[in-house]
Amino acid sequence: MDTTPAPSELVALEQLACDLALEAGRLIVDERPDRLGVAATKSTATDVVTVMDQRSEELLRTRLEQLRPDDGLLGEEGGSRQSRSGITWVVDPIDGTVNYLYQLPAYAVSVAACVGDVSVSGGWRPVVGAVVNPMTDELFHARQGGGAHLRHAGRSAQLSVSNQTDLALSLVGTGFGYDAAKRRKQAALVGELIDQVRDIRRAGSAALDLCSVGAGRLDAYYESGLNAWDQAAGRLVVTEAGGVVVGRSGGAPDADLVLAGSRALVDRLAPVVDARPLG
Ligand code: IPD
Repeated sequence: MDTTPAPSELVALEQLACDLALEAGRLIVDERPDRLGVAATKSTATDVVTVMDQRSEELLRTRLEQLRPDDGLLGEEGGSRQSRSGITWVVDPIDGTVNYLYQLPAYAVSVAACVGDVSVSGGWRPVVGAVVNPMTDELFHARQGGGAHLRHAGRSAQLSVSNQTDLALSLVGTGFGYDAAKRRKQAALVGELIDQVRDIRRAGSAALDLCSVGAGRLDAYYESGLNAWDQAAGRLVVTEAGGVVVGRSGGAPDADLVLAGSRALVDRLAPVVDARPLG
């Protein structure tokens, strides 16, 4: 079901996404245990879950059940509920969990309301998104047709992507998955790009990387293997900031590829990235 909510409902959903991201962001900072350990591992021994990932998702799940009982849910830590309204919340309770574990201040809570089928890679799209970095108190948010904004220190600023068109002068973000074989391929692509761009950044949170593109702090970003929760909210921040987000061969972004930036830069980067399947 692909039912875009009416503009007035989008405003309310965006506000809710912001409130939830801020509340979960406070939780993961205020209630972080002194000795935070690894509660579980997922795809590999380095793909970790902490107790705060679980508590943050529990908070988001409980609030959404109370406030939006007909909406669906897809959460990184296993939260899942079928949608009866056509809207599904896609949440990452801590994006950048490894940064969180090491106390590097680049992690986020990401909350998006999406339409379409979130169980199908590329079969859904975000209509509202909020990403908070609780260490910098920055809240990035967007709604379809409403622009992208950054709220910080009591101020709100409208975001727009960078106007850099020269790949050689572009700062490009990327990330790596957890699987060793895939990481080798991802590193090989970085090796190919490194002398074609200004520089490469690997900050450790896909949600914040996408928001950095929306804010013009990165000229472009690409990553292969992102889950829906890593990309949902940040993608909308990019497109509402005037950028584009594509997948392989210019198709819809999905688990295979997310490539974000201004149209001009995405067109320059796409042939290089497309030439090297990373899956
Ligand atoms: C990870 C981060 C990282 C990206 C990985 C993601 P997680 O999410 O977004 O930057 O490179 O692909 O899995 O595991 O910290 O939620």
